[in-house]
Amino acid sequence: TAAALKDLFADDFRIGAAVNPCTIRTQEKLLAHHFNSITAENEMKFASVHPREDLYTFEEADQIADFARKHGMALRGHTLVWHNQTTDWLFRDRQGRPVSKAVLFERIRSHIQTVVGRYKDDIYAWDVVNEVIADEGEQLLRSSLWTDIAGDEFIAKAFEYAHESDPNALLFYNDYNESHPHKRDKIYTLVKSLLDRGVPIHGIGLQAHWNLYDPSLDDIRAAIEKYASLGLQLQLTELDMSVFRFDDKRADLTEPAPGMLERQAELYEAVFKLLKEYRDCIGSVTFWGAADDYTWLSDFPVQGRKNWPFLFDEGHRPKPAYYRVAALTGK
Ligand code: G3I
Repeated sequence: TAAALKDLFADDFRIGAAVNPCTIRTQEKLLAHHFNSITAENEMKFASVHPREDLYTFEEADQIADFARKHGMALRGHTLVWHNQTTDWLFRDRQGRPVSKAVLFERIRSHIQTVVGRYKDDIYAWDVVNEVIADEGEQLLRSSLWTDIAGDEFIAKAFEYAHESDPNALLFYNDYNESHPHKRDKIYTLVKSLLDRGVPIHGIGLQAHWNLYDPSLDDIRAAIEKYASLGLQLQLTELDMSVFRFDDKRADLTEPAPGMLERQAELYEAVFKLLKEYRDCIGSVTFWGAADDYTWLSDFPVQGRKNWPFLFDEGHRPKPAYYRVAALTGK
């Protein structure tokens, strides 16, 4: 069997994977061998655990926490405040009108206390606020039901509520397109303003949904440098390397085209080489999946299109990318 990634990078950072109730069964051996951290792909999101005001549903989230405990893995929590996969009841009263800011804060405080409190002994790091920065334009924040009701105040509140619920948890701001200069600078501005105001935040999550064409290694390095200058821990939280350009809508490939997996291997090698340089500020590198038999990219942006973004293939065998990454460690 191939050397375990978690051992190869033991002196550098944790190696994580996003999992769900299906993959903890179908990928259990692979996960247990290579990974020492997991994140629930969907099961701890607001809509999953709190579909109605008076109803919490923790069954699947608990299964994932149990899996982490069984295998002695670290567990990351994902996510508390997001514009997606959040049930509408949170923002509305019984008549369907938007609630006041005070009511929204009371509701999200109670949600955070319940969820963070429940996993206090299991989860060491939470993605407290996810994807609130606007991708384009000069506006800092994305418009959402959150900003409609609470401007920008909900961000600091979420961190404060998470901190009071588990003072030991590391609290992260998490976002994608994190290496694009424009968004990078906005993420930096937001996090710096939180730090300046004494908000309890301990890290930045770089989602790292990358592909064979984008972002450049220079942009990745510049982003890491800029975020690290804030003195926070950095984690790659959702790494994958799509073989398609972001706007490529082709749906006719049933296997990788010639050269794709070699290019992917070169890029993964370059990325891990760079990450190792920054091992003092990078605590963890989590893939948004584990092997090519299951990836969210098979439904995005083209429903049902296959993709091959990971270090392991559909049969859980190491790909060229695995060997290049492993060789880097000299172990
Ligand atoms: O659970 C329902 C099921 O009941 C229904 O029959 C089915 C029909 O489409 O949908 C199922 O829900 C899907 C859900 O995943 C669970 O599988 C949703 O349609 C689908 O949209 C949802 O996608 C998730 C996506 O977040 C939603 O935004 C992906 O699995 C998940 O990988 C993805 O993860 C996000 C991170 O949380 C944040 N960063 C980006 C990342 C990728 O988009």
